[in-house]
Amino acid sequence: MILLDGKKTSADIKEEIALEVAELKAQDKTAPHLAAIIVGNDGASLTYVNAKVKACERVGFESTLIRLPEETTEEDLLNEIAVLNVDNDINGFIVQLPLPNHIDEQKVLMAIDPEKDVDGFHPMNVGKLALNLPTFISATPFGILELLERYNIETSGKNVVVIGRSHIVGSPMSILLAQKRKVGNATVTLTHSRTKDLESITKQADIIVAALGIPEFLKGEMVKDGVVIIDVGITRLADPSKKNGFRLVGDVDFNGVKEKVSHITPVPGGVGPMTIAMLLKNTLLAYYRQES
Ligand code: GUN
Repeated sequence: MILLDGKKTSADIKEEIALEVAELKAQDKTAPHLAAIIVGNDGASLTYVNAKVKACERVGFESTLIRLPEETTEEDLLNEIAVLNVDNDINGFIVQLPLPNHIDEQKVLMAIDPEKDVDGFHPMNVGKLALNLPTFISATPFGILELLERYNIETSGKNVVVIGRSHIVGSPMSILLAQKRKVGNATVTLTHSRTKDLESITKQADIIVAALGIPEFLKGEMVKDGVVIIDVGITRLADPSKKNGFRLVGDVDFNGVKEKVSHITPVPGGVGPMTIAMLLKNTLLAYYRQES
């Protein structure tokens, strides 16, 4: 069994980006600049967005964090976005999700200039992804492609089973892996909560992407020998034996599948750490597109 080490791979990517930024600075160029808007005081969202800002600093990017109060109106948020859209110093920005209930998330995502939409959530960028045109691939699917590539996992002609049809993981992942691209050309089956006899499908899979959000859902008896498993799930389960009171578990019963897999992403330390690295990669891409 080989662990697909997202922690190390993301550190490698950040180092590559840092070298590239150092070279830009040596040529007296400005550094790429990422901004993030966060509305409200949700602890997990704040931790996550702070990690994004810190990652920017580590690779030499400029970063701006815009913190807005919970009671911010939709109109005020749209105004902030309009300002960032025309700010030539900002190459890319994100609006941290989820947003408070009184704000229409879709309306907000559609207000972001697609050229600066480094999350890749704007419908124009999702449409470009579906057509295999240059775009920003959102962080989680992009991170999975990168892990598969860096560990030389063959996808061409393989049976890939994606479990979960979310807009941010399952759906784009199934589209990308079926496309004619370096990590692609797979025969993809997208499964979901209405799929009948899932086990008969997962048992045929050479590669499984588990992204349904149910802890330890994928069991050993559901997979064949030699399978590659990408575990996108991350759920906090109460665990009084831990100092912080919880443990993180994926959508895969790790102990149940570990004797059968050829490669697997651990939770934590697999797909999760890749997402920030891929956001930085998208910001660098936005920078170069805006330079040229
Ligand atoms: N909330 C959780 N993940 C993400 C992400 O990738 N982007 C944004 N904007 N919000 C998130």
